[in-house]
Order: sequence, then structure tokens, then C-alpha cells
Amino acid sequence: MKQHVVVLTGAGISAESGLKTFRDSDGLWEGYDVYEVATPEAWQRNPNLVQEFYNMRRKAVLEAQPNAAHYALAKLESKFDVTIVTQNVDNLHERAGSSAVLHLHGVITKSQSSKDPSLTYDIEGWELKMGEQCELGSQLRPHVVWFGEPVPMIEKAAQICSTADIFLLVGTSLNVYPAAGLKDFVPNNARKIVVDPQASSLSVRDMRIISEKAGVAVPAIVEELLTS
Ligand code: APR
Repeated sequence: MKQHVVVLTGAGISAESGLKTFRDSDGLWEGYDVYEVATPEAWQRNPNLVQEFYNMRRKAVLEAQPNAAHYALAKLESKFDVTIVTQNVDNLHERAGSSAVLHLHGVITKSQSSKDPSLTYDIEGWELKMGEQCELGSQLRPHVVWFGEPVPMIEKAAQICSTADIFLLVGTSLNVYPAAGLKDFVPNNARKIVVDPQASSLSVRDMRIISEKAGVAVPAIVEELLTS
């Protein structure tokens, strides 16, 4: 039976594709205060601003390309069962060829009903406009989990982590719960590796620490796993 590699990724894996991380920019996200654009209250207060913010981010995602780290993880599937659990709302893992990707915080290329979050739709192009409605007649919003909202995929993600033989943690500050708690579901005897230029400041135990950028370190680890 193939070994199961579980990879938990965060914004850092897409940094070298040109998509900015949140906490590397002083708590501002592309110049916006996150609570002004990524909370249910922000949506109530100023839906136009929220749409505009996500439209800009969606445009950036569509223009970005996967980098060497995304491609290397897709290559791992030649020898292992691989599940990617990502906090990212970009679709760069899928575009690099990974076949099992769980998006904990949603995906920006989809919209969802503001009445029933289970109703989701693909967005054509980069723009979601005010006035665009779901089949129930309510405004469509970005299919992303905002601060203060439940994370519906967390239980499935925890179950996946509990079956890991090898666990890779790439490019996440582990600041945001419940995602940050997923590492605690990984079995004690799994091999665990963390890749992050700031890895030494992360609160992780029993992990091999690689304090390098994902675009360099992830292909090297993948090569090591494929040839061992
Ligand atoms: N390679 C690997 N890691 C990198 C790189 C790189 N080239 N560049 C930066 N990093 C690391 C940073 O050192 C940091 O630890 O990526 C991490 C990014 O952390 P955050 O910006 O906090 O991103 P993330 O952990 O994904 O945030 C979690 O918070 O912003 C919300 O909902 C959003 O999903 C997101 C969640």
C-alpha cells in the first residue's frame, strides 16, 4: 500500500508566484485592514468594498502561475497517496496538477449564495458583481471563509491528517485556528517536516525544520522522498 503524504499549505507556498501573504505585510492585506474586507460584518457594512477587494485578488490569482513547490507536490503522486489541505483560496495546487486538494478556507474562483453557503458556483473571469444572484434570489458573495465564520471542512481535514504517514507543513504562520490545530491530529510516529523561512519561530514539536523558501526546499524534499 502506498504511504499517505498529507501537506498542509498556507500563503507562503504561493508567495513565489507573486501572491502576497497576509502576515508578512504588517497585518495589512494588499493595503486593506483585514477586518474591513474579510468578515461578515464588513460584508454587511460595505459589500461593494468587499467585492472589489476579492475581485482584485481573483484577478491576481488568475494571472499568477504555480511555482516549483506546487509542481513538485503534484509530482509526489507518482509514488505516494497525496492529500493537500490548503488554507489558500487560490487554485495553484490544482493548476499544477495535484488531484486531491481540500480548501479549508474556500476558493476565490467560486461564488456562494449569501443565504445558503452550500450553494456555490464557478465564476467566469475575475469579476463578481453586485446584483448577481443565486438561484434563491440572494446576492452572490465570494466562496471564502471569513474571520468569525465556521470552517465546514475542518473535521474532514482532521480525519485526513490522522491518517498521515508523512506530514509536510509549508508556508503557514500557524496563527489562524482551527487550521493551525490540524498538526495535532497527525500520528506521533509520522515523519514530519516543516518548510518556512521563519520555521524556527513556529510552535511545532518533533518536526524536521527547513528554514528556506518553498520554491527551493519543497522540490528538494520531494526528490528525497521519491528516491528514498
Ligand atoms: N516559502 C515558504 N514560506 C514562506 C515564503 C516562501 N517563499 N514566504 C513567506 N513564507 C511564510 C512566512 O514566513 C509565514 O510563516 O509563509 C507564512 C505566511 O503566513 P500567513 O501570511 O499568516 O499565511 P497563512 O498561515 O496561510 O494564514 C492563514 O489567515 O490570512 C488568513 O484566511 C487567511 O488562510 C489564511 C489564514
